[in-house]
Amino acid sequence: MQNDSTNNRPRHVAIIMDGNGRWAKAHGLPRIEGHRRGAQAVQRSLEAARDLGLQYLTLYAFSVENWNRPKEEVQALMELLDQFLKDQLKHMLKHKIRLRVLGRYHELPKHIQDRLRDTEARTADFTDFTVGLALNYGSRTEVVDAARAIAKAAQAGTLDPDNLDYAQFRDFLYTGDMPDPDLVIRTSGESRLSNFLLLQSAYSEIHFSQVLWPDFDRASFEAALDDYAQRERRYGKTSEQLQPPES
Ligand code: FPP
Repeated sequence: MQNDSTNNRPRHVAIIMDGNGRWAKAHGLPRIEGHRRGAQAVQRSLEAARDLGLQYLTLYAFSVENWNRPKEEVQALMELLDQFLKDQLKHMLKHKIRLRVLGRYHELPKHIQDRLRDTEARTADFTDFTVGLALNYGSRTEVVDAARAIAKAAQAGTLDPDNLDYAQFRDFLYTGDMPDPDLVIRTSGESRLSNFLLLQSAYSEIHFSQVLWPDFDRASFEAALDDYAQRERRYGKTSEQLQPPES
């Protein structure tokens, strides 16, 4: 799905939040302190995204590969997430922010699943601003989950495989009811997508920021949006085809 972003302002920004560990190391602090400061940067970026008029902000908070980190770090990340959700609920209800969780829900700790489901349900009707939290997320597992659901629908006779096209396929992705990201930002100077929204970012612009995630502030966000505003999105066409006809 292609987006109708107006005034060169993205409608949907997705962020690969990277560099918490390096931030902590640079400050002589334990890794978990980097994550704690990273959680504060999450809060800041939610506020910035709303102020800057975005409609969707999707954050890569925990990948399917992140389970392989040391046990204490995984546990600390889950505790931070739990605390973040607890703190956010009031804010989300007050500012009418909808939460959408993207990922293999059922493998998360039960108390976090419950909190996520509760927050999703209580914010489901808000339409102005949506936060996507990618948790236990990976693009490849997302595609496999979609393929399984499609195969089941075909078996049940509710989907005709011969007529399956991408417009129908995308509805089976975790992001089925969200537009594709216009802009993907990765912080910390790394230049890769790390299994994040690989199908959805087929036509996204990518901005690689040198800033470590805990230091990512409103100015860094605006710099990414300024960079995006300079891009020409051609979706396979030529530059000339995109020019409006002369009147
Ligand atoms: C990458 O830093 C960051 C993550 C593992 C995920 C993002 C987590 C947070 C921002 C903290 C809590 C999130 C929420 C939603 C409350 P890294 O550890 O890979 O950094 P490094 O590459 O410098 O080691």
